[in-house]
Amino acid sequence: MILERNNFVDIKQITNDLKGSPFEGQVENLKELAQLYQLRHSGVNEIGTKLENLDDEYSMNYDHNPIHHMEERMKSVRSLAGKVVKKGLSMDLDTIRKNIQDIGGIRVITNYIDDVYRVESALTQQSDVTLLKRKDYIKNPKPSGYRSLHLVVSVPVFQSNGVFDVPVEVQLRTIGMDMWASLEHKLRYKTNVPKEKVDEHAGNLKEYAGELYNIETKMQAIFEDLQG
Ligand code: GTP
Ligand code: MG
Repeated sequence: MILERNNFVDIKQITNDLKGSPFEGQVENLKELAQLYQLRHSGVNEIGTKLENLDDEYSMNYDHNPIHHMEERMKSVRSLAGKVVKKGLSMDLDTIRKNIQDIGGIRVITNYIDDVYRVESALTQQSDVTLLKRKDYIKNPKPSGYRSLHLVVSVPVFQSNGVFDVPVEVQLRTIGMDMWASLEHKLRYKTNVPKEKVDEHAGNLKEYAGELYNIETKMQAIFEDLQG
């Protein structure tokens, strides 16, 4: 299992990211925003390590790796600003701190569907992890056909100036669901494709999401049979 770690966002990056955007000059304190990013990034590191350890333990005790790979994601400052505006909030840091829980995120790609719930339960039952939000788009797929389990958990981060509970967004999905989401994301953001074509592809993709789910269920059954 590979965890793709990324570097946290620093002041220079934040300044560059905001340059030329409608939000340039609106963030009153870049240092404090960078500190918020650093704290959220530490939360992502804590959760990433917990998930790596769980995968190692499963591999040792059950001869199976639930996690195929993971990707860390820090929201760009531009898309943070976009989200703040969309939610009708102001760009001040206290508001952001209280209302935006997905600045730091981790995407967990599992081998099978049951692994999604296995990982969720092993993570959320840890005494220092608190489940803040849960949306099960596997049991209730989005109208597009999108499937994933979205969680927001909080984890304590120990810093030189105290201990802070930090929210981290965790998106769990299978390899099939991830493959589907990548292609559907591409379709969503292609601007040069005629509308009829987009609609046709979207219709097909919705159907394929269901087919993929069925295939993954059947493959999981074979896997379980072989595990004994
Ligand atoms: P919020 O509280 O608004 O953050 O809700 P949420 O996190 O439960 O779901 P949201 O709809 O905001 O989706 C968050 C992320 O999930 C997006 O940034 C995408 O990465 C992914 N996602 C959600 N819906 C779709 C979809 O229909 N297609 C694809 N490809 N990705 C999606
Ligand atoms: Mg979200």
